[in-house]
Amino acid sequence: MRKLLSKAALTAAVFFVSGSAYAACTSPVAKDDLTNEQVDAIYECIKEDLRAGYAKSDNPWAKEYPTWGATATRPAAPGVHGNRLLNTFVNEIGHAEYVKFSDEREENPMPVGSVLAKEVFAVNKKQEVKKGQLFFMEKVAAGGEADKYGNWVYSVIKSSGKPQKISQKFCHDCHVNYDDQDSMGYPDEDVRITSE
Ligand code: HEC
Repeated sequence: MRKLLSKAALTAAVFFVSGSAYAACTSPVAKDDLTNEQVDAIYECIKEDLRAGYAKSDNPWAKEYPTWGATATRPAAPGVHGNRLLNTFVNEIGHAEYVKFSDEREENPMPVGSVLAKEVFAVNKKQEVKKGQLFFMEKVAAGGEADKYGNWVYSVIKSSGKPQKISQKFCHDCHVNYDDQDSMGYPDEDVRITSE
């Protein structure tokens, strides 16, 4: 006979698997109606749990990135559509250059060794706040396999800390649209932290 897990048992299972406090964060309104203060509040609710999940990864960047340079004042979505909120951090090698948000990068690409990390969380239709993946782009030296992807190596870590298999081509085919920005999309203009 098939046994259905009760909701309480499922919650307990989540507790057990994650080994950390279960953060049930909800949004007071639909994602597109969020005020800045509400975005800050739901980020505060999910942040610790989100980062604890990523930190289980073997990739040292997944633990380090919260200490890297911020690029935005708060998480934001690049457009009004979609339910994801994004927040990008850049390591010491790349940060000063990234926050120029230059669109004249054809002659002035990001320095080799730059690593960009993008946290993702979402507000679904039920206004539940959901953990998303951690996205990376690493700038590598010209002349290698990444040549055809603008010398960027793309990677993704799931919210559980496990690596996610991705296609370099899939990521780059969209990023290459920003060719005057060295294939970087940059955060929403309203939240950018610009260099002095
Ligand atoms: C359909 C288009 C699209 C696809 C596909 C896509 N991205 Fe992006 N990505 C963007 C846009 C637009 C931004 C900037 C939006 C923002 O960060 O607010 C961005 C931002 C990023 C950033 C932050 C640095 C920056 O400014 O560009 C990283 C890291 C990143 N993407 C990694 C990835 C990875 C890894 C993949 C593949 C698994 C991927 N992206 C696939 C459009 C895309």
